[in-house]
Amino acid sequence: MKTLLEAALAARNNAHAPFSNFRVGAAIEDESGRIFTGCNVENATYGLTMCAERVAVFKAISEGARKFKRIAVAADTDALTPPCGACRQILWEFCGDAELTLVNLQGKSETFRLKDLFPRPFDASFLD
Ligand code: THU
Repeated sequence: MKTLLEAALAARNNAHAPFSNFRVGAAIEDESGRIFTGCNVENATYGLTMCAERVAVFKAISEGARKFKRIAVAADTDALTPPCGACRQILWEFCGDAELTLVNLQGKSETFRLKDLFPRPFDASFLD
């Protein structure tokens, strides 16, 4: 667990956030213990900005990982930064009701289940 939080904090250092100066890091661990990281990548159009969580998920998926057990999100806020709505949808798609830990630079952390942050999700079960 400590490693996953450290990975999210380290990924945050790579954030490309010249417009908001709000730097975020994320890390997800797959079922075999492999860790994938992401940071937010902003764009001058603003709207094309990609959050750290989605970068981490898409990197993992593109590397062939499929099942995840834990996610960590790191930001420099006293009130721990949660994933945005779009990221919750993407995390649900690939991680289901995984454990999600938020952490800040002081090492303050809190762990949630994704279903508590994202109740009554729309997912593939509706498409059957
Ligand atoms: N951001 C993330 O990367 N993840 C979050 O959970 C919240 C917001 C980014 C997007 C944007 O680059 C900056 O933080 C401010 O919204």
